[in-house]
Amino acid sequence: MSQLAVQGFHHITMVSTDAVRTLAFYRDLLGLGLVKQTVNFDDPGAYHLYFGRGTGEPGTLLTFFEWSHASRGRWGVGGVHHLALGVETPEAQLKWKRRLVDAGVPVTGPLDRGYFTSIYFSDPDGQILEIATRGPGYAIDEPADALGQRLVLPPDDRLPEGRDEQAIAGRNWPEPVPHVTADMALFGIHHITGITDDLQRAHDFYAETLGLPLVKRTLNQDDGTTEHWFWARYDGREVAPLSSWTLFGWPDSDYRARPGAGQTHHVAFRAKDDEEQRAWLDHLRSLDIQVTPVQDRTYFRSIYFRAPDGMLVEIATDGPGFTLDEDADAVGRALQLPAWLEPRRSAIEAGLKPLPQAPLGYHARTGVTPLETP
Ligand SMILES: [Fe+2]
Ligand SMILES: [Fe+2]
Repeated sequence: MSQLAVQGFHHITMVSTDAVRTLAFYRDLLGLGLVKQTVNFDDPGAYHLYFGRGTGEPGTLLTFFEWSHASRGRWGVGGVHHLALGVETPEAQLKWKRRLVDAGVPVTGPLDRGYFTSIYFSDPDGQILEIATRGPGYAIDEPADALGQRLVLPPDDRLPEGRDEQAIAGRNWPEPVPHVTADMALFGIHHITGITDDLQRAHDFYAETLGLPLVKRTLNQDDGTTEHWFWARYDGREVAPLSSWTLFGWPDSDYRARPGAGQTHHVAFRAKDDEEQRAWLDHLRSLDIQVTPVQDRTYFRSIYFRAPDGMLVEIATDGPGFTLDEDADAVGRALQLPAWLEPRRSAIEAGLKPLPQAPLGYHARTGVTPLETP
């Protein structure tokens, strides 16, 4: 195994067709903070929005390119199937179900996945999202110090034939949930699940090249004929939060992901500093993996390369962080541009719809509305 190991997730970047609607959904319905509004540095006419906890802690960051004319993407081999955000308790998860359903967003679950409980829904562009409970964790069916060493078969009641779908659909929080309460706070990227046509080849890449050990080999609990593997930062005793990368295996499938709206553009893992990132660059090059030079993304520095199934992967540094150009209590308030784009600010601003500071209402049927003040 590589001496180097990625430190878990830094961010995930998705594609939106409407920045204001994305703001209403992620900030005002899901309660995430907008920690930066800037533009896509490779395409400065388009917004790049960052949501996350606090001042933008790595592992909690969801970012969006706004491409208003993007056609709808689809999940498949070489892409992400869904993004799971973490919540502490099953009770809080049920409150999320009620809040989403009341906003017209169809929700599936809660489903008992063994290692956690999950609800599923989609964002307004079609990106599949999950809210997963923190526990009980991967050690329920294997020793905590020997995770991922054998294929674990889920019990029948966790597979589609054994589930009481009617009872699951009927479970909901009894009261409306008009506000995101403290217990409902989404703590970051619980896991990200993609699709590969070759799990063993993916294992060689994620475990050997990126240093993320396998922590679970099981079956896809929605399709017991295929496998589902999980990798994470794991020291042989504990699995670190904000680090689980999982893949559904579709052997020899040619149903490939198509980039576009409602799809993940790329997934970024963490390097703690520039020196560690430089070591990654040398390491990847020594393995003949095509990797970009270091790109300055203002709030972090990035390198990009592809996994063997085609997934675009980034390694981003923790620093300098999102308080570089805004005070900690004012991140995300105003459009920020890197120095080299400042001379073009008025032209750039003229091409972007302003993002309202005031909270917005979101409903899947009626869309975005100003929130009525009591
Ligand atoms: Fe999941
Ligand atoms: Fe990125």
